[in-house]
Amino acid sequence: MELLFLDTVDSTNKYAKEHLEELSDMTIIFANKQTAGRGRFQRQWISNSGENIYASIILKPSKELKDVYANLTQYLCVILAEVFEEYNICPKIKWPNDIRINGKKISGILAESVIEKNELKGIILGFGVNLNCMKDDIKNINQPATSLNLEINKKINRKTFLKRVIDKFCLRYNKFIEEGFLLIREDYIRRAEFLNTLVTVKVFDKEISGIVKCITEIGALKIVDNENKEHVLLIGDIL
Ligand code: BTN
Repeated sequence: MELLFLDTVDSTNKYAKEHLEELSDMTIIFANKQTAGRGRFQRQWISNSGENIYASIILKPSKELKDVYANLTQYLCVILAEVFEEYNICPKIKWPNDIRINGKKISGILAESVIEKNELKGIILGFGVNLNCMKDDIKNINQPATSLNLEINKKINRKTFLKRVIDKFCLRYNKFIEEGFLLIREDYIRRAEFLNTLVTVKVFDKEISGIVKCITEIGALKIVDNENKEHVLLIGDIL
C-alpha cells in the first residue's frame, strides 16, 4: 500500500477523486485536518483535530471488485473493529458500517465511486476515526459520540493505530475480493448491534420499522415489520 500524507485538505475523499488518475490502486491518503470533511447522507464530519484519523483508500476496479463493491465498507468496518479490540474495548457494528462503543459512535466510513462513461474508474473508501478527541469536540457532534482516548484514558498513537488498520486491511483483502461478504460474515455478525430488536431504518425518504432478523449472505439487513412482511435492505440508516 502506498501512503500519501497531507497536512490540510478539504476532504481526503474529494482529493482522492480529483487525483484518481495519477494515484495507484491501494494508495491511502491521510490528512491531519479536513476543512470540509463529509459523512454519509451529506452530513458534515468534524475534522479539526490533528490527532484523529481522516483517511481514504483508493481502489482501482477489476471485474471482481465490482461484485464485492457494496461490501467493501463492511470489510473495512470489521478491520477497524478488530483494531479497536486490540485496545481492550468492545466495539459494536451498527449496520452497515458505523462502529459504536456503548451506543456512541467512534468511527464512520464513506465509500464513493468514480464512474466515467458508464465505466467504474475507482472506489474511494474514506474513514474517520475519533482517536484523540477532547470532550468539547465530542459535544459538538450531533449524535452520541466518543473517542478512543476517552474510552481508555490514554493518548493514542495515531501511527500505530493506522499501521494496524493498513496491515489488517491488506492481509485478507485478496481473499475478500474472491469470497466477498461470506469471508467476514461471522466476524461481522458477532459484533453486530440490534439483532432481534425493533429498529427504524431510513431508506432515502422512507422509514421502515421492524425486528432485525439477520444480516444476509450479501451483508443486507433483513427486517420483518408488524404485518409480517420481510424487507431486505442494502442501504439505509438505522435511526
Ligand atoms: C459517516 O459515518 O457518515 C462517514 C464518515 C466518513 C468520514 C471520513 S474522514 C476521511 C474521509 N473524507 C471525508 O470527507 N469523509 C471521510
